[in-house]
Amino acid sequence: MIDINITLEDGTRVCGWEADTPLTPFAPTDNYYITYKQVFSEEECKEWNDYLLEQEPLLLAEHITSSGDGLTGVGPNTITSRYGYFNVLSFDFHLVAKLKAEIIKGVKTILELSNNRSWTDTLYANSWFNVLRRGEGMDVHAHGYHKHSFYGFHLSINAKETATSYFHPIKFEMSAFHIPNKIGELTLFPAYVSHGVSENRHEAHRVSIAGDIKTSSWLDDPTYGQEGLQKLAVEVGTV
Ligand SMILES: [Fe+2]
Repeated sequence: MIDINITLEDGTRVCGWEADTPLTPFAPTDNYYITYKQVFSEEECKEWNDYLLEQEPLLLAEHITSSGDGLTGVGPNTITSRYGYFNVLSFDFHLVAKLKAEIIKGVKTILELSNNRSWTDTLYANSWFNVLRRGEGMDVHAHGYHKHSFYGFHLSINAKETATSYFHPIKFEMSAFHIPNKIGELTLFPAYVSHGVSENRHEAHRVSIAGDIKTSSWLDDPTYGQEGLQKLAVEVGTV
């Protein structure tokens, strides 16, 4: 496998892993692209931050039980563990439309990079947010390895000296990328690439918006068994 570490013309940084030309029938052929790019200004993130921290206690009061913390280790009392009850992309907040547009732009970049230019679909997403207080981090976890796997995303809203680490999907392949969480940066990663967040050592909360992008066929699949999330998913746009 070849480590990817490039910057595209529009400023998008790309890391991940690309397979070398296979020389046997069993050599690896999979490619994994992780992209990150500044899409919101510090001022816009301040607006997001204040809005989300206002929503946090309201949502916790409205949804008193955990929907699971997705193996992040953040526990049942966090806003992360209410991800099954709301969708940030349904919030009546003026920066939501821009976030949707940036997600679509990012997916288009990845389709281009991976030679999938002709692939088209209407995409949907579930989205939640995370607030890590001093001493809190996130255990290594992934968002789903199955036939509908697509991309996950996260947007750093407030961050000081934390990083998100992305690990090679093949166990015992030790390669990893440690990407500092920078305010306003949107990261897109294959849903099954495992990742974790380093401990927040500062008083300032580490706030991020996260989500899973889903295809129209996932949304229409009644056998998939995530009915609650399917109902909450909203249309993001068309690629
Ligand atoms: Fe995650």
